[in-house]
Amino acid sequence: MKKILVIYHSQSGNTEAMAKAIAEGGKGAGATVTLKKAADAGVDDLLGCDAVVIGTPNYFSYMAGMIKDFFDRVWGTVRGQMENKPFVVFGSYGGGGLPAIESVEHICEGLGMKKINDSIGVQRTPTAENLKACKELGKKLAKL
Ligand SMILES: Cc1cc2nc3c(=O)[nH]c(=O)nc-3n(C[C@H](O)[C@H](O)[C@H](O)COP(=O)(O)O)c2cc1C
Repeated sequence: MKKILVIYHSQSGNTEAMAKAIAEGGKGAGATVTLKKAADAGVDDLLGCDAVVIGTPNYFSYMAGMIKDFFDRVWGTVRGQMENKPFVVFGSYGGGGLPAIESVEHICEGLGMKKINDSIGVQRTPTAENLKACKELGKKLAKL
């Protein structure tokens, strides 16, 4: 059974709604899904999963501080142990496009992880269609 880790940060709930839809899709397709706020996640979560999905809102054209904090905490330990681990990034933005998502992708790629799907970025509150795409992503990860 695939183990999927969904970690995210969200203040007003937009990225969180996406995270929950991804988790729901993964669970529905038979995966074991761990859904955690980045503040509560650590090295063991990252090393113990088969695929990682990371959700960040766009704050000041960068990843949320709590996502940066997560990478700051785990980087030194997980470095060298993440090669080819599948990842996907998602998140919500106000109007400024995808720099936050790209900043997370940059770190994951620096760890040697493998991007296995286009990122999902939505403007502010995800629509039903956006949430459906998130659910589909969860399903896809469960079948990797
Ligand atoms: C502190 C802060 C900084 C933000 N900076 C940006 C920004 O630079 N560009 C942008 O497009 N949206 C910006 N936003 C808007 C958020 O990206 C947007 O409201 C998003 O939907 C929030 O997601 P969340 O509900 O998961 O927190 C900012 C919001 C906050 C609270």
